[in-house]
Amino acid sequence: MEIPFSESYKIKMVEPLRKTTREQREQWIKEAKYNLFNLRSEQVFIDLLTDSGTGAMSDRQWSALMMGDESYAGARSYYELKESIEKILGFPYFLPTHQGRAAENVLFSALVKAGDVVPGNSHFDTTKGHIEFRKAKAVDCTIDEAFDTEVEHPFKGNINLNKLEKVLKENPKEKIPFICVTVTCNSSGGQPVSIENLKAVYELSRKYDVPTMFDSARFAENAYFIKLREKGYENKSIKAIVKDMYQYADMMTMSSKKDGLVNIGGFIGMNDKELHRQCSTFNIMFEGYVTYGGMAGRDMSALAVGLDESTEFDYLETRIKQVEYLGNKLIEYGVPVQHPIGGHAVFIDANKVLCNVPKKEYQAQTLGIELYLEAGIRGVEIGTLLADRDPETRENRYPDLELLRLAIPRRAYTNNHMDVIAAALKNVFDRRDKITSGYNITWEAPIMRHFTVELEKA
Ligand code: F0G
Repeated sequence: MEIPFSESYKIKMVEPLRKTTREQREQWIKEAKYNLFNLRSEQVFIDLLTDSGTGAMSDRQWSALMMGDESYAGARSYYELKESIEKILGFPYFLPTHQGRAAENVLFSALVKAGDVVPGNSHFDTTKGHIEFRKAKAVDCTIDEAFDTEVEHPFKGNINLNKLEKVLKENPKEKIPFICVTVTCNSSGGQPVSIENLKAVYELSRKYDVPTMFDSARFAENAYFIKLREKGYENKSIKAIVKDMYQYADMMTMSSKKDGLVNIGGFIGMNDKELHRQCSTFNIMFEGYVTYGGMAGRDMSALAVGLDESTEFDYLETRIKQVEYLGNKLIEYGVPVQHPIGGHAVFIDANKVLCNVPKKEYQAQTLGIELYLEAGIRGVEIGTLLADRDPETRENRYPDLELLRLAIPRRAYTNNHMDVIAAALKNVFDRRDKITSGYNITWEAPIMRHFTVELEKA
């Protein structure tokens, strides 16, 4: 008999989960103004809102935490992290920040100005927010295949080189601070970018003399997919593939809350000493002194270990196989999901599930609320609410995909939880014809509205 697959770790500490009733959930979601972000975590049974900062640290990380050095300047923990970043990602200069968007804020303060254009593959919402906040424009150059959930393509995060070259050709290089490549591409469904594509983008960046920046939140998951799907990489270690990826980047921003395997933290990595100097001033202003930048020493020590663990094949295999397990269960039940299954999450095609709900009543949000009511599971809308309004016309921007994301925290849940999620979603799917109306906005913020939006039943 073939020995089945099992997790590459065992559990040393547990946290209880609380079951709730449908009546309770109906009350709570109403009080939350139908915004899943407004729920208290105790009101949630399985929390798939995000895989960001929600993972479990290892025993090695917890012991590193205890050894943290909290010195304001020159802490040992800073040097541990510096060494880890240089060894794994290859950047000689780095600045710690409190999370990914803070890294964006610091780096973009040095590089992005009004009227600039930042081409890339579907920029994450905070990345886009930081670009648009500076009156610059993010141009999405992702390959067309990414916008059809049914198309099988091994690297749906790839950049369409023609689209990219058009932007590079039509704008003077002074107006393009960098090309932004998100690995894996969250907004297109946790989809990876191939080395071949990274290399081609880099070659274009040299041709037009603009730098390349990797938004690296899930860089290790990207490397795992390269190992599995790209010819010539099957026998390389994850760490070697990561090195191969980063030879094509001039700088990176990192949300360490994902593939850093910590609960808070971020950083900027760069090759250029002068850029490091420029960013240091902004880091001191916005984050903290250059050797801690918004992170406790202990968290930097835990992150140094996290980067090492997340770039190990066994960890990644366990992680991604769990996401795949959930995805395959849903496929078995006929629920339309993004193909292939992404690295950190399963994305449900809400437009195909709730076709009786009008688009303007937020299909993916409606599906998210239904799933919560069904079994206390919290996902997140990646659709019209997130896409926000056009900054100029103030009209709703309707994205190509209306998705409900079920993001899986790292090392936190078991496959029994995945079974519960799949069954709950099947129940919603089976009664989809009876769901004919969604929600209307009663209040929204002028930018990044989805976090705080308030809704009522349509
Ligand atoms: N870039 C990507 C690709 C992200 O997915 C995120 C965060 C960030 C940058 C910002 O990092 O949260 O540390 O400030 N994504 C989370 C998510 C919030 O749920 O996907 P942050």
